[in-house]
Amino acid sequence: MSFQILVNKTHPLSPDYVPLDLVLTEVPFEEEEFLEKKLLRKMAASALEELFAHASRLGYALVAISGYRSYQRQQEIFSTHVEKYGLEYASQVSAKPGCSEHQTGLAMDISLPSLSYKLLPDFGDTKEGQWLAKNACHFGFILRYPADKVHITGYTYEPWHFRYVGVPLATHLTKCHLVMEEIMEA
Ligand code: DAL
Ligand code: ZN
Repeated sequence: MSFQILVNKTHPLSPDYVPLDLVLTEVPFEEEEFLEKKLLRKMAASALEELFAHASRLGYALVAISGYRSYQRQQEIFSTHVEKYGLEYASQVSAKPGCSEHQTGLAMDISLPSLSYKLLPDFGDTKEGQWLAKNACHFGFILRYPADKVHITGYTYEPWHFRYVGVPLATHLTKCHLVMEEIMEA
């Protein structure tokens, strides 16, 4: 499947879609053991490893939190959000099964020890979050859910969620401050 695939509320993946080239992403995670969420597609994993190595040289201790998720795992996560917060709020912060970029194996959530590894809007105010928002594109990643594009993406601001699309598209979207929907659904 293309690295540029658009996955959102109106472009879902099939429930049985599992990327064929998932590999363990060799970057720091919060947990030590092998977990499904440490997987990414091969190209995305290599690109994230380069990004983390570069960040580390700048003194930024990024921690990866959640990469690949199966359709079934997303179903559990979405149901938990609905039980806790109700359908309307859950739909703004969590994707329905089939609609999550995490099922593509091309998205990674990133946090910091100083944020207790939580996925918080505050991440966007940290020097690491600001560096990522500007520079992740050089490694092929985009900040997928910016604060001022909520009306287009349908999700609240997620400064921690980075999506691999390849360097040319990532640099174009970042430089022009566009989200995927603006060039693919136009
Ligand atoms: N939080 C993002 C939208 C997801 O669930 O994929
Ligand atoms: Zn995410």
